[in-house]
Amino acid sequence: MNAVSLEEVAIVGLGYVGLPLALALAPHHPVRGYDLDPRRIAELAAGHDRTGEVSPERLAEASLRLASDPSVLDGATAFLITVPTPVDDANRPDLGAVEAAARTIAPFLRPGALVVLESTVYPGVTEQVVGPILEAGSGLTVGDSLWLGYSPERVNPGDSAHGIGQVTKVIAGSTEATTERLARLYGPATGERLFRAASIRVAEAAKVIENIQRDINIAFVNEAAQIFGALGISIHDVLDAARTKWNFLPFTPGLVGGHCVGVDPYYLADLATRLGKHPEMILAGRRINDGMAGWIARRIAQRLVRLDRRGGRVLVLGLTFKEAVPDLRNSKVVDLVSVLEAWGHPVDLHDPLADADEVTSLFGRPPLSALPDHGAWDAVVLAVAHPAYRALSAAHIEALVDPGGLVADIKGLWRDLPLAATLARWSL
Ligand SMILES: NC(=O)c1ccc[n+]([C@@H]2O[C@H](COP(=O)([O-])OP(=O)(O)OC[C@H]3O[C@@H](n4cnc5c(N)ncnc54)[C@H](O)[C@@H]3O)[C@@H](O)[C@H]2O)c1
Repeated sequence: MNAVSLEEVAIVGLGYVGLPLALALAPHHPVRGYDLDPRRIAELAAGHDRTGEVSPERLAEASLRLASDPSVLDGATAFLITVPTPVDDANRPDLGAVEAAARTIAPFLRPGALVVLESTVYPGVTEQVVGPILEAGSGLTVGDSLWLGYSPERVNPGDSAHGIGQVTKVIAGSTEATTERLARLYGPATGERLFRAASIRVAEAAKVIENIQRDINIAFVNEAAQIFGALGISIHDVLDAARTKWNFLPFTPGLVGGHCVGVDPYYLADLATRLGKHPEMILAGRRINDGMAGWIARRIAQRLVRLDRRGGRVLVLGLTFKEAVPDLRNSKVVDLVSVLEAWGHPVDLHDPLADADEVTSLFGRPPLSALPDHGAWDAVVLAVAHPAYRALSAAHIEALVDPGGLVADIKGLWRDLPLAATLARWSL
């Protein structure tokens, strides 16, 4: 096999991961992109990235060839798969998009083609699921006429300090020569920050435990928040003190949703179960974090009962799965709202970043079009620490709540803000 340093790159799946990857590689290789969603392609062609990761200017500058017709893949030498890896209703890995992407790519593979999976998976998917589909659809053989690799994506949407150019990229190929080809492909875009993992399965395993580690650590502080809540002390006060120790890990409590940290543990848990090993800690973390929104909603509802505001109106600020992103996928605020409603509270919604249509379809009602200057809600619940909420003044927050009502600050964002003593306050 001959190594080539300039690749004709094709990105398959142009979402939160695929689009920034395309732009990062574009200065170094010709890049084309395929996404099966024509609406996504039309929006990108019009200069709009609904994920908020890429500005219209950057999109216009880059010379990307993007299409929802797979024929755009014809002539590519390196195919990078960045499609979703969700779980099904029973929390089992759903590899449907990865398998479909491999089937789409296969007819376009020529001898010497490179295929790299970037999606988060459990160890074994690249070689045991993707490889065979590619071989069957192309007639090529992995390790001979077909080069196969895995390189997990570590970007953190909404966090421009940890983009592709700033973080080390883990790479692994089915042969040593493949790993070196991956190094030539990605190196220029990552400032040569590369780590050659021992094997594809090691790279897959490393990615999935990075996210599981976060899930478990957040679950621990969430559990601690529940224990300390029963004592009447705030986990945020506890963490302020504990964090002064040099080796205390700075995790904070909250809702764990999204398509990564809240999902990936199930990938390894499923594999573990199939291997006959019960994944106790992984699933305990999931149980605690999945139950957190309901626990918080019940605490708020109980406080409102004590304030004699049974069935009072609640305004929830922040609907996305985490701060500074418009991404609503698997947002646990949905659970928070439905438990509040089950306690009889009418709930109004606001989010400065989420798409109003997506909110309407997820929550069954539209959000407020803007945050009002004043209102008379019985409770204002800060669910997601968007920068716009961090910037709210005490006077504005006070003006939203009926005197004697509740300010429930899940993220502890307003802890240092002096609010009128007439308002009740609750935080984790
Ligand atoms: N978003 C993150 O923060 C992040 C970070 C690291 C890793 N990951 C992982 O990266 C992968 C992609 O995640 P994402 O957040 O970019 O997903 P996404 O939903 O934002 O984007 C995926 C894109 O792939 C397209 N698509 C789906 N099936 C396709 C197919 N068969 N062919 C072509 N296009 C297809 C979709 O239309 C969508 O535009 C997942 O495995 C995820 O776990 C995500």
